Amino acid sequence: MTPFPLYDGPVLGIETSCDETSASVLDGLTVRSNVVSSQVDLHRRWGGIVPEAASRAHVEALLPVVDQALEEAGIGLSEVKGVAVTSRPGLVGALSVGVSAAKGFAFALGVPLIGVHHLEGHLLSPFLDQPDLAFPHVCLLASGGHTELVLLRGLGDYDLLGQTRDDAAGEAFDKSARLLGLGYPGGPAIQKAAETGDPKRYKLPKGLQGEATLDFSFSGLKTAVLRLVEREGTALDVPSAAASVEEAIAEVLAKRSAEACRQADCEALTLAGGVAANRRLRSLLEENCRREGIRFATPHGSLCTDNAAMIALAGSARLARGERSGFDLEPVATAPIEDL
Ligand code: KG4
Ligand code: ZN
Repeated sequence: MTPFPLYDGPVLGIETSCDETSASVLDGLTVRSNVVSSQVDLHRRWGGIVPEAASRAHVEALLPVVDQALEEAGIGLSEVKGVAVTSRPGLVGALSVGVSAAKGFAFALGVPLIGVHHLEGHLLSPFLDQPDLAFPHVCLLASGGHTELVLLRGLGDYDLLGQTRDDAAGEAFDKSARLLGLGYPGGPAIQKAAETGDPKRYKLPKGLQGEATLDFSFSGLKTAVLRLVEREGTALDVPSAAASVEEAIAEVLAKRSAEACRQADCEALTLAGGVAANRRLRSLLEENCRREGIRFATPHGSLCTDNAAMIALAGSARLARGERSGFDLEPVATAPIEDL
């Protein structure tokens, strides 16, 4: 049982805030389907996300993805009892595609509509695997767009403890990978290359060392990788450079997470967002938590990266509280988590 009630009946979740088109059917806590169509191949040729191309790709993919989600869940559209859609923050053009479709479904079915904050989806995603997690706890949310330490006191009651002052952790992986000639997206590429490397071979900055802060900074790392590549030229040991980057990022994320738990006096830490797929980060956090007697929870792979199941979960929790969005629901580019 989650420490918050969920909506009665299947909720259709829709996510189009960035470069994944996703639809999910969530019934209580059961993920009956979670279909994700990734645009990674589309954006690879540019080495990053092109907003206009992302919106067009969502338009093409969304209805087939919803169809597949319903089919895999084994329900007809008419059995959907609520529609949850990411409405903020994100690329406005991309969000508009999901929001417009969600309004159409809710209107046609005569069921409630709820706009969901994308980060609330990530923050609550660990409950899909471990529903008995309690509040308060700390979440390390690390993705391509965000690196935040958040204290969850209850549903919708979130305190931002620390955040990045420049690049997000995923962005640091992506930019370093590009400098090392490892391709896009950078996180998985660095993890793979790092397998045969020595993480101690190159010394890289860990950002805001020595400052009493829960904030992060990854721009110095990017510059250091650039210098390293220029200095070493063809002599560069790429696997060791990748391992050193991975270690620098994982270490600083783990260190600040432990400090956040100490400061907030929390007995549980969760890890969410695309970077949660990183094996080195997971094992460092697991190790730290075991030593400190803190419970550690992270959802399995496909629930870490952007997906509609987590959006359906956050939507279901809000619908159960009686919250509803109107048909004037608008996509919003920037929305602080503390305003929820
Ligand atoms: O949450 P997500 O799917 O999308 C958003 O940014 O919202 O996260 C994508 C990010 C990318 O920067 C990608 O490089 C990173 O997550 N990522 C990883 C790994 N898998 C994905 N970073 C490190 N190690 C990984 N195995
Ligand atoms: Zn995300």
